[in-house]
Amino acid sequence: MNILVTGADRGLGLSLVKKLLGLGHTVFAGQYLSHWPELSKLAHPNLHLIPLDVGSDDSVRDASKLVANLTDTLDMLISNAGIIGWDDGTMADFTDTEMMLRVYNVNAIGSVRLVEHFKPLLELSTFKRLCFVSSEAGSIENCTRNSFFWYGMTKAALNLYVKTLYNRMQDYDFRLYHPGYIKSYMGGDAVNESATYTPDEAAKFAIDYFFGDEEKFVLRSYDGAEYPF
Ligand SMILES: NC(=O)c1ccc[n+]([C@@H]2O[C@H](COP(=O)([O-])OP(=O)(O)OC[C@H]3O[C@@H](n4cnc5c(N)ncnc54)[C@H](OP(=O)(O)O)[C@@H]3O)[C@@H](O)[C@H]2O)c1
Repeated sequence: MNILVTGADRGLGLSLVKKLLGLGHTVFAGQYLSHWPELSKLAHPNLHLIPLDVGSDDSVRDASKLVANLTDTLDMLISNAGIIGWDDGTMADFTDTEMMLRVYNVNAIGSVRLVEHFKPLLELSTFKRLCFVSSEAGSIENCTRNSFFWYGMTKAALNLYVKTLYNRMQDYDFRLYHPGYIKSYMGGDAVNESATYTPDEAAKFAIDYFFGDEEKFVLRSYDGAEYPF
């Protein structure tokens, strides 16, 4: 299968790319961090590195053209890129609306850009599966936090967008997913060692769900649980 993964430089995205290549798929890996070497080092014959900033219309459009020059169809799209604050990990305070808009632009509108620009390639596939990495933080019913609301707001918006797509694009399959608490790079260049799962462990759960069967439209957690949203 031909699969696009966003935010593939590190964290869950990089581990998804490695697992997908291991399964024999052709992967178009969205590269956002030109200074981060791990993705380029994979140098696999079925791996295509695609410069991709999901926060930019121009970048997503250019990426879709690049992929269209390499393949006629895309079978699966994995919208994984996500942020929680500024690139250096700072989140300032509740008055930093510029940061909040940036997070919204990447986490929510980023998926809108992806679907719109890659739809022509997805349309030509017989598989047509759209996978979105969301978060339990987007669940309004389960919300117990008293901070980081801007992150949860972006994931709630993503969930609503994906549900709307599900209503509209009935010949597509959807996966809306909470990947668990991951030892990844959200919030800077240092790994969050206090989290629960390594990116490789989290990628295994995610791949099982993305390729497995799903009876209904839900926000599904890595452990199989359903999140109300
Ligand atoms: N980590 C968790 O515990 C957790 C829990 C629930 C949900 N999630 C979700 O899981 C997904 C993957 O996150 P992760 O934990 O693997 O974090 P990560 O290690 O930070 O990986 C995310 C990747 O996306 C990149 N990225 C940032 N802005 C981008 C943009 N505009 N366009 C394309 N790529 C961009 C990141 O670069 P930078 O590193 O420079 O930002 C990074 O390489 C995210 O959607 C996140 O919200 C994570």
